Amino acid sequence: MKILITGGCGYIGSHTAVELLNANYEVVIIDNFSNSKRDVLDKIKVITGKNFSFYEGDVCDKEILRQIFSENKIDGVIHFAGFKAVGESVSKPLMYYRNNLDSTLSLLEVMNEMNCKKLVFSSSATVYGDCHETRFVETIKKGTPSNPYGKTKTMIEDILEDLYHADPTWSITMLRYFNPVGSHSSGLIGDDPSGIPNNLMPYILRVAVGQLECLTIFGNDYDTPDGTCIRDYIHVVDLAQGHIKALEQLLNNEPKIRIYNLGSGQGVSVTEIVTTFEKVNNLKLNYKYGARRNGDLPAICADPTLALKELGWKTTKTLEDMCRDSYNFIIKNSQNKN
Ligand code: NAD
Ligand code: UD1
Repeated sequence: MKILITGGCGYIGSHTAVELLNANYEVVIIDNFSNSKRDVLDKIKVITGKNFSFYEGDVCDKEILRQIFSENKIDGVIHFAGFKAVGESVSKPLMYYRNNLDSTLSLLEVMNEMNCKKLVFSSSATVYGDCHETRFVETIKKGTPSNPYGKTKTMIEDILEDLYHADPTWSITMLRYFNPVGSHSSGLIGDDPSGIPNNLMPYILRVAVGQLECLTIFGNDYDTPDGTCIRDYIHVVDLAQGHIKALEQLLNNEPKIRIYNLGSGQGVSVTEIVTTFEKVNNLKLNYKYGARRNGDLPAICADPTLALKELGWKTTKTLEDMCRDSYNFIIKNSQNKN
């Protein structure tokens, strides 16, 4: 089976490419390196010992998509390509709406033309928006995300629902990720945001290697056991394996539209992450407590029951694995840079 991965050089796409190649799928990647580096291609080859096809280009460009589908018999597509920085989406909304929506529409139109109607889409827990639950199950009504990035995910989910209802020969699976962290155990690929990170784990890593001075924990006066926010962190390799399960289901069953949460179901506080990170990596992190961050909810956790029931998928990696593998990546990566 040959699978097209859009955005396959990025953080989650590269880990998924590794898992697909390990599971003996043929892989075709398209990426324009807007948020990734070319050397990821070699790293995927080193990790897997396998080859794959690569096209450098923009998923908004239908011509290159047509070229890919004419040169390869694509059985299914996993669509990761898109911009993902929440803060940037607030200051550059048009850039986010243009890239995330246009890339998806171009891809869907070309898939339709080429009669390839099997798609796995990277959605996000952000679509639950500001709804006042702490444990999210797929059947609760979507909320309103507070930022343009989140809104593009909600809009794309709506587009995919409309498409399926107009043409039920499509098979579509939307995966709502919770908080992906960690790296492949080789330390070769991982999350490497440019500039000052917004997300917790990349920020911790920069402090751990001395590139940033101090982590601010945003609020310790929430109504949670230790006063800091609770999230559902998921190791990126578990997440990548969730895509393989979703793809297998999609390729082997009648067309349907499906939604799954991909999370561990375990809530972890910011303080727990920090102390676990210190313990497993045998170091001290410089951190302080600061004000709450605007828009943060106190506690968010996945209900991953449906993914277990229908995909036979659940997370296997621990918080210790996430902290150890994340640190291993930054150590190898910052050594490479020096
Ligand atoms: P990433 O930025 O590391 O990877 C995205 C990749 O897509 C990059 O390699 C980038 O160069 C490429 N890309 C972007 N626009 C493109 C375009 N128009 N044409 C070709 N390539 C393009 O992001 P990630 O963390 O791997 O996330 C992958 C997907 O998962 C995204 O859609 C993101 O919104 C979604 N998601 C991520 C998270 C997270 O925390 N990382 C959480 C929920 C959902
Ligand atoms: C954010 C996005 C979400 C996106 C996800 C990607 C918002 C509102 N949500 O989720 O849409 O899918 O990233 O992983 O931006 N924290 C600190 N100090 C820091 C950084 C973070 O204490 O320097 C805390 C935050 O308050 C939060 C937790 O760490 O409680 C996790 O934060 P983060 O990694 O940014 O993820 P989310 O906010 O959950």
